[in-house]
Amino acid sequence: MKLIILNNENEVAKKTAQIIGDKIKEKPRTNLGLATGSTPIKTYEYLVKMHNEEGLSFKNVITYNLDEYCSLDQYNINSYRYFMNQHLFSKINIKKDNTHFPDEDNFDVYDSLINSCGGIDLQLLGIGVNAHIGFNEPSDAFSLYTSHVNLSESTIKENSRFFDTIDEVPKTAITMGIGTIMKAKKIVLIACGEKKEDAIFHLIKGPIMPKYPASVLLLHPDLTIIVDNKAARKLKNMEEKCKIT
Ligand code: F6R
Repeated sequence: MKLIILNNENEVAKKTAQIIGDKIKEKPRTNLGLATGSTPIKTYEYLVKMHNEEGLSFKNVITYNLDEYCSLDQYNINSYRYFMNQHLFSKINIKKDNTHFPDEDNFDVYDSLINSCGGIDLQLLGIGVNAHIGFNEPSDAFSLYTSHVNLSESTIKENSRFFDTIDEVPKTAITMGIGTIMKAKKIVLIACGEKKEDAIFHLIKGPIMPKYPASVLLLHPDLTIIVDNKAARKLKNMEEKCKIT
């Protein structure tokens, strides 16, 4: 595991976009796993900038988003398809047919779809305040496959900031499973702000347990965690466990 602690959200986004951009330059037909939420928005802004100013091409890139709410269609402003169109896809030269989201119709074939194209080369992750990844909530077991899940009260409350009222937040979603995520060749997890300090602490300190879903990432052979100072606040004396840069 490699831990990169940077000064602020902007530096986190720039570094993350550079890693993604380098992967696309090395392998133009990259299979990218993508996340939504507040944290990656700036990373997507940097990728758009790299597309406009440096000619970074997404012509052959294929994307698989981590998750999608049930009961919101793609035109709903709170759907994750809408989010990705708004922040990235409409601003770069990606082909719409190359962008994939799990949904109620395809979730049982989403993993085989990913496998059949050679697997995810680079998976971008955020992390919930309860250490969820995708919508894999704290539970008694790690989920293996893309599946239909109930959102926890804490996630519904956390995500209600995007909706007019908390009652509008969908209670269920489709998410890649922990097993699906762990199969990615490379994982980059980003987190910013003090409200993520506990989640980052549990991720890095362990123990690996489904109560802290992200903790399983410690078993991944190519994991990079990029955080700002605020999210790293609880990481004292952890140098031995992580290669800190
Ligand atoms: C969304 C996703 C979630 C978010 C997490 C953090 O696709 O996978 O796990 O990454 O809820 O969200 P923000 O960045 O809004 O704090």
